[in-house]
Amino acid sequence: MTLKTLNFSARLAASFFVGSILIGTFSSLIMLGLLLSEAESGFVFPTLEGIRIKYAYPLLVSSMKTSMYEYVADDEDIEIVQQWIDEGTKEDFFKAKVQPIMKMDCTSCHSKSSTKTKAVPGMPLGRFEEVKAQASAGYTWAKMSRQAHFHLFGIGVFLAILSLMMAYSSYFPWIRNLLISTATIFLWLDVMGWWLTKYLIEFAYVIYFAGAVMSGSILAMAGLVLLDLWLRVPWITESSR
Ligand code: HEC
Repeated sequence: MTLKTLNFSARLAASFFVGSILIGTFSSLIMLGLLLSEAESGFVFPTLEGIRIKYAYPLLVSSMKTSMYEYVADDEDIEIVQQWIDEGTKEDFFKAKVQPIMKMDCTSCHSKSSTKTKAVPGMPLGRFEEVKAQASAGYTWAKMSRQAHFHLFGIGVFLAILSLMMAYSSYFPWIRNLLISTATIFLWLDVMGWWLTKYLIEFAYVIYFAGAVMSGSILAMAGLVLLDLWLRVPWITESSR
């Protein structure tokens, strides 16, 4: 069986599925670009610094550089917090320099008794233990494993369907096998990179490269499958299929 021998309705259904993957992949690339760079809109490349902030810096510091930046009174506050973490989260340093910053910038919302509309009583940042809990590198294990399994199950399932379609296309076997393998192997490498970057910042390059290769393979497979459903591209297809 090949994609070309499917009846019209099946090819129509397959095309809609692949169309959603194409739109979804482009949307995720826009999202990643915006999340991992300083840009506010449009299609931009993630920056390496953006990846480091997300996967290597402690949540406390990364939030102060990104989502919580608007509440940081002075950029120097971030450096002091970073210094406290670099020097081993000592309690006397905390009391002298970090706690006053938390009191001034953060605890109006981040406290169990906050009555603000945007209060986050679940993540108080007043006491030493509470702040220290947000000071370990990268995502916490809980957040990392949650992200990793969402990512692997979500992408894994649609990748399996797309890969099967690719397997039944009429392209040369090396093209099929190459794209089918790179997509999933680089998906794994990407997720592995998140964990490793937590411990060694250089792995940010792996995240960058693996993410790019994976997205490229998905876009290539989706485009080729769509083409193969309706047309024949003689120079890359087997004549027997
Ligand atoms: C006006 C209220 C408010 C202030 C002030 C505030 N936060 Fe938040 N913070 C929130 C809310 C709401 C969330 C959860 C939703 C979100 O991410 O926007 C949050 C989430 C967080 C998170 C979880 C991860 C993240 O980035 O979403 C961290 C860490 C954090 N804040 C740290 C801080 C620090 C450090 C400060 C002080 C510099 C601060 N916050 C000041 C309201 C606030």
